[in-house]
Amino acid sequence: MNLSNVKRTKMCGEFTLNDVGSRAVVTGFVAKSRNLGSILFIDLRDRTGILQLNFDSSRDRELFEIAASVRNEYVLKVAGVIRQRGEKNVNPNMPTGAVELEADAIDVLSEAETPPFMISDMQNVGENLRLKYRYLDLRRPSLQKILMTRAAIVGATYDYMTKRGFLNIETPFLGKSTPEGARDYLVPSRVHPGEFYALPQSPQLYKQLLMIAGFDRYFQVVKCFRDEDLRANRQPEFTQIDIEMSYAEKPEDVMKEAEGLIREIFKRTVGLKLPRSFRRLKWSEAMSRFGSDKPDTRFGLELKDVTKVVKGSSFGVFEQATKRGCSVRCINAKGLAGMTRKEIDAFQEVVKEYGAKGMAYVQWREEGITCSFKKFFDDDKFEALLSAAGAEKGDILFFVADRDKTVFAALGALRLAVAKKYNLIDEKQFDILWVTEFPLYEYDEEEKRLNAMHHPFTAPVPGDLKYLDKNPLKVRAMAYDLVINGQEAGGGSIRIHTPALQKKMFEKISLTEQDINERFGFFVEAFRYGVPPHGGLAFGLDRLVMLLTGTDNIKDVIAFPKNQSAVGLMENCPSEVEKKQLDELGLKL
Ligand code: AMO
Ligand code: AMP
Repeated sequence: MNLSNVKRTKMCGEFTLNDVGSRAVVTGFVAKSRNLGSILFIDLRDRTGILQLNFDSSRDRELFEIAASVRNEYVLKVAGVIRQRGEKNVNPNMPTGAVELEADAIDVLSEAETPPFMISDMQNVGENLRLKYRYLDLRRPSLQKILMTRAAIVGATYDYMTKRGFLNIETPFLGKSTPEGARDYLVPSRVHPGEFYALPQSPQLYKQLLMIAGFDRYFQVVKCFRDEDLRANRQPEFTQIDIEMSYAEKPEDVMKEAEGLIREIFKRTVGLKLPRSFRRLKWSEAMSRFGSDKPDTRFGLELKDVTKVVKGSSFGVFEQATKRGCSVRCINAKGLAGMTRKEIDAFQEVVKEYGAKGMAYVQWREEGITCSFKKFFDDDKFEALLSAAGAEKGDILFFVADRDKTVFAALGALRLAVAKKYNLIDEKQFDILWVTEFPLYEYDEEEKRLNAMHHPFTAPVPGDLKYLDKNPLKVRAMAYDLVINGQEAGGGSIRIHTPALQKKMFEKISLTEQDINERFGFFVEAFRYGVPPHGGLAFGLDRLVMLLTGTDNIKDVIAFPKNQSAVGLMENCPSEVEKKQLDELGLKL
């Protein structure tokens, strides 16, 4: 039957009892068909949902025969009348479960071979096979829903930012290396053999130049490219909601705008009303309480500093640590003293993975205390340690002694591992907070020099400028990260806007005059011609979508992602190229 002259009237998932009696034309993929002999049901699927089609051989024999020949994933256009289902046929698990289409015409628009896997959320198919046939994988309702939420987030962003006076301006992909700290993806130039463009790790320099150019407020939903080791929340190309604004002189100026956007996104996509202002936590407090600059504060298990309490015991591990200026910290896993030796050993492995040399523990069970180092403490001192840790019968304490950096990394990770293992996290809760006042620098052990913790355009807290020369590690930055459920959802800073300070910053991170000119010459030059104070931030769009759709796999929120080794399994990239192409680029392998 040819239905080319009639158009679809509604999407499959949109029919309700209100449509009963009306004529309808629907299109979609065959999700399922059940032939009961004289009656046949087809579930037709599009991205809004499923509509049941009803074919009755007693109504139209020829139509029935066509419908009976149709198989899964065929593409159909079907016309008919919407009917209320008989009482015992109602499917309460389906939004359209009270109605069906009594078909009177069918047009098979496309046949389909049997797909390599069933298109169903219930199916347990290996990820590689799913990525190879990504276009089939994407037909699954759960992935369609995620990508629709993603589109809604982007839509809300454009609306809100435009309303707030931010201009959407594009910046180049073929550009110059930017300093976000990852490796660049390089693009060889044919016209200039031996020279390369770098794909942007972020539009950082360009957006600052747009402020210098007078655009006042900028935003862009933009791809960024970073050649780094991939994780569950990292892809080599990912998307930022990138924001910059002039006359932002304090972190609060940017954070307020960012809060407005996040509130709008949450309201429009999950219907959640967030508070007008999010919690703020200073970096130093985040580290000392949670061992992390992106703390998940949905559960306790906070770190306690017991360096002073353990000082003077004869336990070598602690004593050596305190003598070397290290710290001894612990977490108290309340009520979990019942864990087995094997479970404790698994936690040992966690802290070791984060660089700790070991982990000591106090296990306070009904039958008494198990602790390898108790014999090195006199009774009063041990008592004092228990009380400092807030320990009671039923608790188990884990200790790590090391440099702060290692103790925080190890106990921060242990804290998460314990919470996951014993289900201490309320997954339904959104935990949103700002981490502020990051250090401006971190010390690079390998290179034996300072590095910018955020990036070298970040302004110091004005009151800390006095430490810049004598104690640079003490200088705090006007930088801030938005943390949601223990994930870094975004980050930014107030920027340096005076040439002298920018020059000093570059020098502090050991860039020579020549480095500065080669890498940022154009940027430094722009600072000579009038620079409004400015600041901004960027959200990781992919991570926001993950948080709002409740998936912990970044591949679920990207239509065509790379696998864990940065390979596109569907299109098979990266791949070799023809010798002619290499010759044109002046490249030899
Ligand atoms: P930053 O490097 O912190 O800041 O990046 C901003 C946000 O982008 C997300 N993100 C990623 N998401 C997925 N895969 C990745 N590989 C990846 N890398 C980062 C994170 C992060 O918070 N130019 C600055 C922003 C500024 O200062 O305005 C920047 O790029 O959610
Ligand atoms: P050792 O002296 O290496 O036999 O360790 C004695 C105990 O202290 C063992 O339980 C170790 O796991 C633990 N331990 C070793 N190094 C550390 C450390 N840096 N912090 C906390 N505990 C440690």
